[in-house]
Amino acid sequence: MVKKWWHSSVVYQIYPRSFNDSNGDGIGDLKGIIEKLDYLKNLGIDVIWLSPVFKSPNDDNGYDISDYEDIMDEFGTLEDMELLLKEANNRGIKILMDLVANHTSDEHKWFIESRKSKDNAYRDYYIWRDPVDGHEPNDLGSTFSGSAWEWDEATGQYYLHLFSKKQPDLNWENPIVREEVWKSMNFWIDKGIGGFRMDVIELLGKIPDEKIISNGPMLHEYIREMNRNSFGDKDLLTVGECWGATPEIAKMYSNPDGSELSMVFQFEHIGLDQIPGKDKWDLQPLNLIDLKNVFHKWQTCFHDDGWNSLFWNNHDTPRIVSRWGNDKVYKIESAKMLATLLHGLKGTPYIYQGEELGMANIKFKDINQYKDIETLNMYKDRLNKGYKHEDIMESIYAKGRDNARTPMQWSDEIDGGFTTGTPWIEVNPNFTEINAKEQVSNPNSIYNYYKKLIEIRKNNEVIVYGDFEMLLPEDKNIFAYVRTLKDSKIVVVCNFYENEVEYNIPKEYEEKKEVLISNYGLSLTGRLRPFEAIMYRV
Ligand code: NOJ
Repeated sequence: MVKKWWHSSVVYQIYPRSFNDSNGDGIGDLKGIIEKLDYLKNLGIDVIWLSPVFKSPNDDNGYDISDYEDIMDEFGTLEDMELLLKEANNRGIKILMDLVANHTSDEHKWFIESRKSKDNAYRDYYIWRDPVDGHEPNDLGSTFSGSAWEWDEATGQYYLHLFSKKQPDLNWENPIVREEVWKSMNFWIDKGIGGFRMDVIELLGKIPDEKIISNGPMLHEYIREMNRNSFGDKDLLTVGECWGATPEIAKMYSNPDGSELSMVFQFEHIGLDQIPGKDKWDLQPLNLIDLKNVFHKWQTCFHDDGWNSLFWNNHDTPRIVSRWGNDKVYKIESAKMLATLLHGLKGTPYIYQGEELGMANIKFKDINQYKDIETLNMYKDRLNKGYKHEDIMESIYAKGRDNARTPMQWSDEIDGGFTTGTPWIEVNPNFTEINAKEQVSNPNSIYNYYKKLIEIRKNNEVIVYGDFEMLLPEDKNIFAYVRTLKDSKIVVVCNFYENEVEYNIPKEYEEKKEVLISNYGLSLTGRLRPFEAIMYRV
């Protein structure tokens, strides 16, 4: 396989609104990120994925862009962004911008024009349809509840919005729209960014009239056109958010011939604790065997013909230590176990801000303490449908996106040192116990454990390129595997639960020649303590 710099990189995702506030307005900003670059450098990451920082009225916290070539007022200025790029670059850190090209804000000048009249030059930038029998053209739903069609009184047509009604979908069938997108991408490439994370990229080829939304027939054609017209001849990292990718589709996106993207960011493991066929709020317990099967599939499907991301968290998902670990009795052990499991795998790891500290989910008592449009819309929708308040809150506690969006916990000072003002969303009260200041100086902290895992990846090619083999595939408690590259073999054994378990690993993998990392210090033979994890060379 032709080696690429991003094969061995580790990416860190920043949700700027919640990262670090430098000016006391309660909202994180670009200067705040600059202040923390040394913290990230010390952790050892190579790349930052910056959730959107572009101009936005913030209906969906920046995923509703009103100007692709300018910075959101709360976050700073274009000059601040240039300074951030420069300072990151000085530390050898690249920055990925979040390309949200499926939709814009309804406050983008294109949409303001588009809705003026049916013959406006920008009308075809968006997806407008006549009513059918006085109703929406069809029953397509929005991810944020309700219909995906919004009636526009002024021009007597509906427009499509797969997310909020303030996020109208762009019409990718219009070649001028595509050119506008390439132009904005090149604006940022010229500023020296390291690449793009591409929001809901799989929706670009949609055919709404036929209710084809993901993976439409033109999707890969558009991505190849994008590639040719923007980053194709540059050495950038491009990663597509693909909820519905199969390994076959992933091989198209991440074809090593470079015609599309570098890698996929697919979610098959993330959906395993929801009831099949229902949506994310309908919970079911995770079955470890299912998780093992999904990882096995994605670890073995590529033969030098594709590349995947590795992640437990992002800004849309709950905190992993609360989700599949234990954020009470075993928070440190379980956070480290989950980190070991993931960081020994093949693919490019992504760490979401605060994950390296074991930051946990939040339980706000009052629905008004929540800020996320998806959560608030779902709450109203389900109340109207007759669900009980308590049941809806249980779903929000488990899956609400604000779990990931409470401010970063920098210290045990007021509001976790995130701001000197009033934070836009309340800080998790556990900041006195879980915070960066304590963990950076504590050699046994989760932070220093992540730092070591990153170092291990950098020093062991077998972790980057080695083959994967699942061990104990039928075991309901243990996730164990071996990675092999030529003579080098590394074994990872993790107890996924809080009960002590016995296990018998195949003889050839028993002898621990060199323990690379473990969360309990000295390991026992044939027995694992609660959430115990160990990575060793055989
Ligand atoms: C996916 C993003 O990750 C999410 O935060 C956002 O709400 C939707 N796309 C719409 O842009």
